[in-house]
This record gives sequence, structure tokens and C-alpha cells, in this order.
Amino acid sequence: MLVLGIESSCDETGVALFDSEHNALLSHALHTQMAMHAEYGGVVPELASRDHIRRLVPLTNECLHKADKTYADIQAIGYTQGPGLGGALLTGAAFANALAFALNIPVIEVHHLEGHLLSPFLSEKNIRFPFLALLVSGGHTQIMAVEAVGKYTLLGESIDDAAGEAFDKTAKLLGLPYPGGAKLSQLAELGKDGAFEFPRPMINSGDFQMSFSGLKTAVLTCVKKQGERLPESTRNDICRAFQVAVVDVLYSKVKAALKHTGLTQLVVAGGVGANAALRAKLKTLNAEVFFPKHEWCTDNGAMIAYAAAQHLDKAHQAGGFTVKPRWALNMAFDAA
Ligand code: KG4
Ligand code: ZN
Repeated sequence: MLVLGIESSCDETGVALFDSEHNALLSHALHTQMAMHAEYGGVVPELASRDHIRRLVPLTNECLHKADKTYADIQAIGYTQGPGLGGALLTGAAFANALAFALNIPVIEVHHLEGHLLSPFLSEKNIRFPFLALLVSGGHTQIMAVEAVGKYTLLGESIDDAAGEAFDKTAKLLGLPYPGGAKLSQLAELGKDGAFEFPRPMINSGDFQMSFSGLKTAVLTCVKKQGERLPESTRNDICRAFQVAVVDVLYSKVKAALKHTGLTQLVVAGGVGANAALRAKLKTLNAEVFFPKHEWCTDNGAMIAYAAAQHLDKAHQAGGFTVKPRWALNMAFDAA
């Protein structure tokens, strides 16, 4: 079945075509609104929605063109129903339902985090269920036991800021442009080890819960102590110490979760999964570790098309729809 995937939960409009019979991604197209939001230092929801509306049709046309397909070839449409920004989600949901209605094909609602979670399957053929998943995005930091598609047990999560959010907020207070997470990690590569030491919040909590908001405050206190002007080398050292602390916490929690569950495979997903230091550290675990390709780490349509293709049994007639800005992944399936 040829599935069109639509992602519009935050500041990326993503569209992709996935062929479920041949387990093949035929094409994808993406527009990131990063430059537009950078001016404001963060995502402006109203602007995000308006931009998604402008991009959805051209991106879909681009996707069809790249795959040498037409609208008539699409057999189902999967779209992100949540979690995310309400208005942004509505644009994708309205587009998907209207198009599906016009083409007389079914729709499939997709949980954004399931998209992330399954994204490594787009490039990796050796992942086997069950596995442990570390989902580290801008909005979520979760450790999950994954028994099968749709069978997700949440073992632990951040009780406050997500790891990506901590990266972005810390980058902002260090004067880096939005979204600073990736930039902070580049500067961290230039910093020296051991120049600063930041706390590892909840590292010894004995469970799989995490907390990252205190870390940002620790960086702020440290920056204030440095006086008016922060020399570049000091800033890089701070970036490094911050990154080491986040990576240490994630590593230690994942290690404990692997031991607790007895699982031997780890799947990492989400934007922070692109972080080189995190990748290097997780590879030292006594487990087989899988990462998505870099382009599937951050939001994209391919992961949504793929997730939708795993739930063809849920396909139903398009029509009235609703979005779920707040939606826990385990609830998406417990309720079903
Ligand atoms: O998965 P994603 O698109 O976010 C959500 O769906 O919420 O990931 C975006 C997040 C941002 O917070 C961004 O700063 C972070 O991923 N990120 C990184 C890196 N690249 C992206 N954080 C740390 N190191 C990176 N290399
Ligand atoms: Zn995401």
C-alpha cells in the first residue's frame, strides 16, 4: 500500500511516501521553519501553523514528483495527531483528512513519538523486538521497553525539561541562536574536559526518572560567576561540561534499564540522538545499539509514513477529526 505521511506537530513540515508492500521509502520532502522562529528565540505557534498551511501542498507535490507518482496512486494517509502544538497539528490533520476524503482513501492517526521510536527501522534492518528505547527529543526524554509495534512500557522519563529542551535553553543563556542544541554540541567538541563540573541530577535516584532543568540553572549560576564577558574558550568549556553531564545521566539510566529488563538491544531516537558525544558513549554499552540516520533524528514525514504503515489495520474513513496536543504514547495503545 502506498502511504502518504504528514508531519506538522511543531516547526517542521514533513511529507513522505512509503510503500508498505516493499518496505521502501519512495520519497520525502521537508521544510524547516527554524530560520523564521530564530528571530523570536523560540517557536511562535501561530506563525508555525500559518507556515505549515503554506508548505503542505507544495511539499506533497514535490514528494509525488520525486517518486514519479500522482495523487491517484496514494492509498492511505497517515498524519501526526499529537502530541505537539494544537494549531500546527490541526493544519496537518485538516490537510490529511480533506485530501483523503477527496481521494476516497482512509486515514491513519499517528503518535509523533511512535514515529520517532520506529524511525531507526527506516535505515536499519537488524533491529529485533523486544528492545529498550531511549527517546530524546526537544519535547520528551523517555526510556521505554518495546515489546512490539504498539506495545510500549514507559520505564522512566524526565520529570521536567526534556534533554533537547535543556540543550536549547542552555544554548540560549550562553547567547547561541535558536535552536541552539546542535550548536552547543559543536562548541562542546572544542571545549576542554574537566574545566567545569555540573551536577548529574537524579543519577542515583534508583529508578529511571530524570531531571534536566536544574542543570540549566547550574550553568546560569556558573555563567554569572564569570563576570560580564564570557571568553569563547570558557564558553566552550561550559558547553562541554554541560554536555558531559547530560550524556552521563542518559548513559547511566539506560545502563540500569538494560540491566533491569535484561534487554540486549537499544534503539535511540529523537533529535538529541544526533548528538555525537551521546552516540559515542552509548556505543560503549554492553548492548547492540541502533540510531536513526541523522536526517530521521529530527522531525520528518518519513517516520510518520513508516509508523502509519505499521498500523494499516487502524485505517478508517476520513472525515471529522481531532488532534491531541498532549498525548502519552502508552495511552495511545492502552486505550485501543
Ligand atoms: O526530535 P526533535 O525534532 O524534537 C521534538 O520532536 O521535540 O528534536 C529537536 C531537538 C532540539 O531540542 C534540538 O536542540 C535537539 O533536538 N538536537 C540536539 C542535537 N541536534 C538536535 N541536541 C543535542 N545535540 C545535537 N547534536
Ligand atoms: Zn519530534
